[in-house]
Amino acid sequence: MKLPTLKQCFELWNKYQMPENIKRHSSQVAKVADAVAEHIEKQGVEINKELINRGALLHDIAKIIAVNTNAEDKHATMGAEITEEENLGSEIAEIIRKHYLNNFNDECTIEELIVNYSDKRVINNRIVSLDERFEYIRNNYPKVAEEVELYGERYTDFEKKYQLDQLELND
Ligand SMILES: [Fe+2]
Repeated sequence: MKLPTLKQCFELWNKYQMPENIKRHSSQVAKVADAVAEHIEKQGVEINKELINRGALLHDIAKIIAVNTNAEDKHATMGAEITEEENLGSEIAEIIRKHYLNNFNDECTIEELIVNYSDKRVINNRIVSLDERFEYIRNNYPKVAEEVELYGERYTDFEKKYQLDQLELND
């Protein structure tokens, strides 16, 4: 699997006009994802940590393009398409495509789950609990509020399964 370097990720941020706040969010999600990956790996799970890091850095690559075309809810698909066009490989594309609440399920790879989960531990660039993030979604994204009720438990189960509540995550 050929993955982009950090430098390539940062160049892609600029190429797709990612604003500073989304860059900060993406960096923070990557930081959480790295720590979560490390923690789960210690429990004997095989994980591609570089894939997780790059997927986290690029998961919102299409966010601003989507917002500006009134299609924020399609930013995952649009982001996956961008990385496919950039020939970054299907693994990264799938991580991006599946970072929504309704994609978090048993069919996901561990890398997809970790990036999706880590995104739910960050509001803007602040590390928060799942509860706080879900409350934020309910208040700010009424269209997906129902998905919190439908799928929120999958995240708390994942957290329990890998004892992620014991993980020290500092801003
Ligand atoms: Fe996103």
